Amino acid sequence: MGFLNVLHIKLRQQTVVKLQACIRLLKKLEDICLSSPLQPAQSNLYEGKVILAPMVKLGRLPMRLLALKYGADLVYTDEIFSQQLKHCTRTKDDRLGLVNFTCGDFHLFQTCAAERKKVILQMGTNDPDEALEAAKLVQNDVLGIDVNFGCPTPNAELSQTGAFLLNRPDLVVQILRKLVNNLSVPVTCKIRVLPDIKETLELVRRIESTGVSALGVHGRLRVERRNVAVRVNEIKAITEAVSIPVIANGGSLEYINTFDDIIHFREKTNSLSVMVAQSAIKNTSVFRKNGVLPIHKVIQDYVTLAMQYEYSLICLTHELQEIIARNFKPKYIPPTYENLHRCETYAELRCCRYSKLLQLDEITPKPILEEQKPVDENYIAMNLPFKRGNYTIKSNSPKSILMTWAMQNKQPNPKFEIIRHNMIGRYTCKIHFDGKIYHAVTSQRDKRLAEHASCVVCLRHLGLPDGKKSQEDSSYPHESLGNYRRAEM
Ligand SMILES: Cc1cc2nc3c(=O)[nH]c(=O)nc-3n(C[C@H](O)[C@H](O)[C@H](O)COP(=O)(O)O)c2cc1C
Repeated sequence: MGFLNVLHIKLRQQTVVKLQACIRLLKKLEDICLSSPLQPAQSNLYEGKVILAPMVKLGRLPMRLLALKYGADLVYTDEIFSQQLKHCTRTKDDRLGLVNFTCGDFHLFQTCAAERKKVILQMGTNDPDEALEAAKLVQNDVLGIDVNFGCPTPNAELSQTGAFLLNRPDLVVQILRKLVNNLSVPVTCKIRVLPDIKETLELVRRIESTGVSALGVHGRLRVERRNVAVRVNEIKAITEAVSIPVIANGGSLEYINTFDDIIHFREKTNSLSVMVAQSAIKNTSVFRKNGVLPIHKVIQDYVTLAMQYEYSLICLTHELQEIIARNFKPKYIPPTYENLHRCETYAELRCCRYSKLLQLDEITPKPILEEQKPVDENYIAMNLPFKRGNYTIKSNSPKSILMTWAMQNKQPNPKFEIIRHNMIGRYTCKIHFDGKIYHAVTSQRDKRLAEHASCVVCLRHLGLPDGKKSQEDSSYPHESLGNYRRAEM
């Protein structure tokens, strides 16, 4: 009786094992049969690439542009949740050349022409339909969509996204398949490795079968933090198990300080591409083939790009602090550290005591590119380096000359429209007069000077003296402004 019972149990166990194997096989067949991508995988886009890794609160527009400037081939956005992204409104800002995806009054994603063919939006999601809805909204403005299955944070646990989906492979496959089958841009994902290498390889094969174009692998377990050595051998095993490009990741702290190190890490992991996070925060010029630049130069380039796109100062100061923390020993960080957050304008940022450390005071603000208007003969603009010392501001100022002339010629008073350029804390002024708009587009530090500068534009256009003190240097070096109509002198 006892023997028969044991035999019975053994047979049942064998049947269960066989059934489990059958189910696995069926799942694989299902993965293959159900994959009918809108277009074939575009794996070549991800081959031989050096990439800025996704980084929440850091991988935003200025850092992405900086990474591209220094030589990165592709850049990932910070993780954006499908739940929020799907509610965004897409608007174009022609003045700054930006496309903004805005949720409430926050730009969840900002992009521009310079990164159009190089930016990959990373999404956090656990819902295939929601992921598709969100991805469709942005697909025309990005090179590709990536899904984050690597985030190990408590927030990801709470929302059941990121690395917490790795033990729900069916859902991983559903999400990726939905995107691959319905989007017109390539889809990728980023994972961490699982404790069991066999399970990892099974997972990556299933991921590959969805038709994704590449696979990012952070060579650490979900529970491992940055102080744990990156699992080079696991990444290597994955590259051998799949035929799509593997983007190796996780080498910053142990291996990567220069561009050459990135290439060595690629070779060490036998992968086709590498993505870099922490080494790029420390010094984004890690992507430069000709060697890294001093950190002050990198910070200057970074702030200059941020100013150019009038990037949120709150976000910028946070990012600067991350860069600083990775570069300066605490004893070199002045007690005014927190003052960074008190800066309300870029001008204040450049002047704050802290800026000495960063050498921000050396940045020359770029002339503001006003809205790129088509040629309009009623819009007269000059890039005028108006110097206060060359004019009498109290009496016989450009403004008083113009007002007097208007009165004497029975013209309606000129109307002054002040424009505050928030990010640099400076002003320009448009004068509406005689059916035309006169605009000195070089910004001034206060409203009054901005008015005088635009009065000079107007007076010169009318062929009137503008009140300049010395006649011999009355010719202004004024530059052509693209489509602007150039004022006749
Ligand atoms: C500040 C910070 C933010 C990060 N945010 C994200 C993220 O949004 N999405 C993601 O997939 N990984 C994120 N990561 C992980 C990195 O992309 C990368 O996988 C990890 O840092 C290991 O790469 P590294 O050794 O080059 O730093 C973040 C890492 C850091 C340091």
